[in-house]
Amino acid sequence: MKKPFEGRFAGKVMILTGAALGIGEATALRAAQEGAKLVLVDKLEKEGEDILRRVKDLGAEAVFLHGDVSEESTCREMVELAVSTFGRLDIAINNAGIMGQPGRIVDVTKEQLDHTMANNFYSVFFSCKYEVIEFLKENHGGVILNVSSIAGLTGLPGNLPYSASKHAVNGLTKNVAIDYASKGIRVNSINPAGTTTPLTKAAYEYVKRHREQAIAAGMDPKEANSMAGLKRRSLIDREADPDEQASVMLFLVSDDASFLTAETIASDGGWTSF
Ligand SMILES: NC(=O)c1ccc[n+]([C@@H]2O[C@H](COP(=O)([O-])OP(=O)(O)OC[C@H]3O[C@@H](n4cnc5c(N)ncnc54)[C@H](O)[C@@H]3O)[C@@H](O)[C@H]2O)c1
Repeated sequence: MKKPFEGRFAGKVMILTGAALGIGEATALRAAQEGAKLVLVDKLEKEGEDILRRVKDLGAEAVFLHGDVSEESTCREMVELAVSTFGRLDIAINNAGIMGQPGRIVDVTKEQLDHTMANNFYSVFFSCKYEVIEFLKENHGGVILNVSSIAGLTGLPGNLPYSASKHAVNGLTKNVAIDYASKGIRVNSINPAGTTTPLTKAAYEYVKRHREQAIAAGMDPKEANSMAGLKRRSLIDREADPDEQASVMLFLVSDDASFLTAETIASDGGWTSF
């Protein structure tokens, strides 16, 4: 793990969704070491209780909400939990998301698109809604970071639902930032490239299996390969470590980023530069 900035979030109450695994897990551990009071949210109960125990072992005050942020009620509840436990809300990182079922437009069903939009876009919509309502009520500003993707800045071959959902997150991010800048609320998104997490592992396995099946069914291997990504490399020629995303995310929600809002920051090793 990168060296934490001791005390950077002392006294700050932070919601973090999708906290149990991957990028969320790394962010929870670092935020705990930097003094944040944490409301951790995840649909995985056992893994969520585990990250709660680990952040408490690091000395953080924290609670865990077992819930699905594609449900509006969970997003309202997580904000209520922040206020009932810690008395306020300062920062929210809306990180939960899924790869969903990849596919090109002729293959994608409305149900598949709805599922990805519910988990990647509506989750962020509901989260931002209740977070902003609370910030306005408390009347001291606030900070939101939405986790989008390079697929929110460019297309992603063979994965229309993911790309559409992440573009929607970036559109929402800019709009909320514009609408509430005058109230001292900063809203940005981070757009990571491939990062070593359970999500990417499952996605690579899915694409590999799908490509092999398509070739076996007679698809031109060149066309089948395009489903695995037309571009395989960023300038920094490797996947990111979750800690590298956590460090950018926590910078963006810290006071050091006080002049940044309505930004869709690519944390992508140069992926979107060419
Ligand atoms: N890993 C990457 O390469 C990569 C790249 C770009 C963007 N992202 C984005 O980063 C975020 C985190 O991804 P990750 O790679 O750490 O994934 P991950 O699957 O490793 O972890 C995601 C966590 O979010 C939780 N979650 C998912 N949907 C939820 C829901 N509806 N309600 C509550 N919890 C939910 C999962 O249970 C899991 O604990 C996602 O939004 C993802 O789209 C990841």
